[in-house]
Amino acid sequence: MSDYVLQAEDVAIHYGGVKALDGVALTLERGQIRGLIGPNGAGKSTVIDAITGRRRLTRGRVRLGGEDVTTLGPVERRRRGLSRSFQRTSVFGQMRVRRQVELAAHSMNPEGSEADAEASLRELDLLARADDVAEDLGYGEQRRLDLALALVGRPTVLLLDEPMAGLSVKESLDLAQHLKALTSRWNVSVLLVEHDMDVVFGISDVVTVFELGRVIASGEPAAVRADPRVREAYLGSAA
Ligand SMILES: Nc1ncnc2c1ncn2[C@@H]1O[C@H](COP(=O)(O)OP(=O)(O)OP(=O)(O)O)[C@@H](O)[C@H]1O
Ligand SMILES: [Mg+2]
Repeated sequence: MSDYVLQAEDVAIHYGGVKALDGVALTLERGQIRGLIGPNGAGKSTVIDAITGRRRLTRGRVRLGGEDVTTLGPVERRRRGLSRSFQRTSVFGQMRVRRQVELAAHSMNPEGSEADAEASLRELDLLARADDVAEDLGYGEQRRLDLALALVGRPTVLLLDEPMAGLSVKESLDLAQHLKALTSRWNVSVLLVEHDMDVVFGISDVVTVFELGRVIASGEPAAVRADPRVREAYLGSAA
């Protein structure tokens, strides 16, 4: 049971009459990548907010490494190893790359924060750009910096909201390679919200599909891709 590093159980978030999430279950095993797809407004960003504690649940619970963290706030969950990136980049344009990763690392743990930042930058191939200000980086490098910031403090779980958005095919593949390497080298588990089907089906161990706040399919990539309900949901949304 607690082979799972993350478990979301029966998670619901209702905004008045809008059921942004309605009875969602998700798990992550150690080192696993779970792709999460679904049409616009399906609840993908909301489930990340729910799991990180940024949104109060209407119903359900969240467990991290077996521990029930449902009543804990986002900072406490981050300290317990639950990290995320946002749909929009959270990079500070004017600040040097190394400085902002070090600040992030320091806020997690002042001790060893320089080494922590260094390891994170190295993992994302950003050491060569460490002394540049972030806004001088290419967009692909900025998205890697987002990931480097999420990696400080050695999280066990990464929740990524469209980390490839706006990247070229080549840059997306490069980022996908980094993610794959992370799961094996750092033993991180990843929930990857992503619109690019080739990326999702290419690197995910398992895939979950949302529609209107519910899970309509979940399992191995090939089975999910072949699921008639998935095809219907996507044809319906005419992406
Ligand atoms: N603060 C809010 N108040 C009311 N409704 C909200 C709020 N936040 C989100 N919603 C609704 O919740 C639903 C899920 O939104 P969410 O942003 O999670 O979708 P998504 O799957 O991430 O979409 P996208 O692919 O466009 O990023 C939508 O119907 C949205 O309008
Ligand atoms: Mg979203």
